[in-house]
Amino acid sequence: MAAPGRLTTTPDGRLAGLGVHGGRLLDRLAALAAVGDTGDGGNCRLACTDDDAGGRELVVGWMHELGLDVRIDRVGNVVGVRDGTEAGAAVMTGSHIDTVRTGGRYDGTLGVLAGLEVLRTLDDAGIRTRRPLAVAFFSNEEGARFPPDMLGSLAYAGGITLEEADAAVGIDGSTFGAELARIGWAGEVPVPGPAPHAFVELHIEQGPVLEEAGVAIGVVTGVQGISWRELTLTGESNHAGTTPLRLRHDAGLVGAQVAVAVRRIATVLGGARSQGKGPPNSSMVGTVGSLRLHPDLVNVVAATATMTVDLRNTDDDVLAEAERLVAAEVEALAAAEGVTARWRPLARFAPVTFDPDVVALVEATARALGSTTMRLPSGAGHDAQMLARVCPAGMVFVPSRAGISHNPAEHTDPDQLVAGADVLLHVLVGLAGIAAAPLVGAGA
Ligand code: GLV
Ligand code: MN
Ligand code: MN
Repeated sequence: MAAPGRLTTTPDGRLAGLGVHGGRLLDRLAALAAVGDTGDGGNCRLACTDDDAGGRELVVGWMHELGLDVRIDRVGNVVGVRDGTEAGAAVMTGSHIDTVRTGGRYDGTLGVLAGLEVLRTLDDAGIRTRRPLAVAFFSNEEGARFPPDMLGSLAYAGGITLEEADAAVGIDGSTFGAELARIGWAGEVPVPGPAPHAFVELHIEQGPVLEEAGVAIGVVTGVQGISWRELTLTGESNHAGTTPLRLRHDAGLVGAQVAVAVRRIATVLGGARSQGKGPPNSSMVGTVGSLRLHPDLVNVVAATATMTVDLRNTDDDVLAEAERLVAAEVEALAAAEGVTARWRPLARFAPVTFDPDVVALVEATARALGSTTMRLPSGAGHDAQMLARVCPAGMVFVPSRAGISHNPAEHTDPDQLVAGADVLLHVLVGLAGIAAAPLVGAGA
């Protein structure tokens, strides 16, 4: 980190010579990872669990230490605001601190804690910005417990009402609103929230593209469309030893056939791109991530199969075609086995394109800091795609080792994490404007 006394401005008025305190960022990431530690390097802080609450307490404590004005809204989104010298909409950053059940330690947390580190760095350097700066963490980004994903930021952006959010049903039959109240994090601030001046989120890539290309910083151009649906197949349970195959209505068999069909349809629709041979991260993907049989016993033909289908593509027409093909295949497979099929929509988000000016600023900033860059769409969903509904938005990616995420083995090297935070720092300052800094010269 450069000493504040050596700070200069670049010819276009941006700040040079300032970097975040990497050790402090890494310490906070480690402290948060200790909450809901799964003992294998990973984290479980499913939304609205006691460990989610524990993570929230820790992060909000850090927000108070930074003197932020902390606002908690009705769906549990938390926004910490640092005043600017001028009133008006804040430049916001942030992400989420909930995880999937088998999550890593950087998915979401990096964006939140890097945001706090940016503010601490500015405090230490005595820098005020003209616009306020805000760091947010949004509830239930993962959607792994309460579909849809990005529920908190969707509500913040006005894409779902408070009542709809509260009514979201969890995989354990609970509801989001009741569980949020149970952990004590349903705040008073109404949703939707105030539109930021701009929103920029730092996140790990969660895919292999940057590492394979040997590039330090991903400049995210948008997020691919997401379709999540639950499928319930209902057949008839019967004796596994006595029931001839011709008389079976085996929901488990159809569930397995649907999983195979989803992979085949994604492969065919994606062509070479589904093998990762086309534009980065823009392949057609299809996943059956949950398949539960009932009664789930060795000697009983399954009466029901309840499963999820996750389809994604950067092109909404292709995504819609995938949905149609899967639905038609399910109908045929179910009819052949004499089982019924019922669909329940869980989430459907069109692809999002980020603001060209924010994308260009992220790119120029990363390059000015000496990083290699690459433009790419995001394969994963992010809060930034919801904020993009109400303000100019963009994202910064750092590489993920072997492209692994939603896995305890998720890893990004410390210097790569810090490099991302430095880009975030300068992008946020660029958007918020410097009001006062102990500058010693111009034209670095
Ligand atoms: C969120 O992590 C998603 O993309 O599923
Ligand atoms: Mn995430
Ligand atoms: Mn995730």
